[in-house]
Amino acid sequence: MLILFRKHLFWFSFIFIYLINTTTLAQPPPFFHHICVNSPTYTINSPYQRNLDTALSALPTTNSGFGYFNFNTGQLNDRVISFALCRGDLEPALCTNCVNDSIVKLRELCPNQIESIGYYNECFLKYSYETGNTNEVALPNLQNTSNVDRFNGALRELMDRLRGEAAAGGLLLKFATGNITGPDFSTIYGLVQCTPDLSEQVCSDCLEAAVNRIPNTNLYGKVGGRILQSTCNFRYEIYEFFNQTTQSISPPSRSIPQSPPG
Ligand SMILES: *[C@@H]1O[C@H](CO)[C@@H](O)[C@H](O)[C@H]1NC(C)=O
Ligand SMILES: *[C@@H]1O[C@H](CO)[C@@H](O)[C@H](O)[C@H]1NC(C)=O
Ligand SMILES: *[C@@H]1O[C@H](CO)[C@@H](O)[C@H](O)[C@H]1NC(C)=O
Ligand SMILES: *[C@@H]1O[C@H](CO)[C@@H](O)[C@H](O)[C@H]1NC(C)=O
Repeated sequence: MLILFRKHLFWFSFIFIYLINTTTLAQPPPFFHHICVNSPTYTINSPYQRNLDTALSALPTTNSGFGYFNFNTGQLNDRVISFALCRGDLEPALCTNCVNDSIVKLRELCPNQIESIGYYNECFLKYSYETGNTNEVALPNLQNTSNVDRFNGALRELMDRLRGEAAAGGLLLKFATGNITGPDFSTIYGLVQCTPDLSEQVCSDCLEAAVNRIPNTNLYGKVGGRILQSTCNFRYEIYEFFNQTTQSISPPSRSIPQSPPG
């Protein structure tokens, strides 16, 4: 009898511990896109892995105040450059959550890759040993436009306006959203963002080049899509996908010195 009771107790505690674990260690949601750059890789307990552990545990504490996180550590081949950027309209608590989730998820998906990038709708995380690769990807909304030329004309006008606004945003936040009337009484909604460490000119050039590439990507002729890069990104749709009610910060005074273009 006693043995039976113990057995039950064992299973009860087992189930109980299991429940606690699965509720407190909830799995982060899937990315909508991620890239594990497949070579080079690091080995377990290598200096690179130790630096990556250090960087990613420090990263969530480095919020600039406006959703930009960065932490670099190590030297030469073992250097880790890590950063995360939240969408400019995301509330701070959700932003930190998103970055925390992305750290867990990206290491799970790219277990020993030196360079990896993972995108949620609300934030992305990248780590690498170098600054060069922007890991560009174009993701379309598969619905076709009814009038490609008129759609592209309106889209270009919207993107030019938002690009100027975002680039002029200052050292803390380079983000803009807006809308324009498209063909057949549709409304095109756009969002553009650069990492705030870019100069005004570099941000503007990055977005302009990305928008110019639309005709050469699978975004051409579609009612929506995004071009994602680690330095700048944009998205447009014919529905509202960002938060217009969020108060965007007023851009800091233009007298704040910009880092030189480079
Ligand atoms: C995110 O992670 C950091 C460090 O791991 C932790 O201090 C913080 O409480 C976490 N924040 C959220 C919102 O989960
Ligand atoms: C969009 O147009 C292309 C070519 O005109 C066609 O092949 C495709 O099926 C269309 N897609 C949708 C979702 O209507
Ligand atoms: C377009 O943006 C303006 C702000 O620039 C906003 O007042 C307006 O409601 C938006 N229009 C639509 C249809 O969402
Ligand atoms: C939009 O932002 C407001 C203010 O920060 C917030 O209360 C609301 O929940 C947000 N809505 C969405 C859909 O994110």
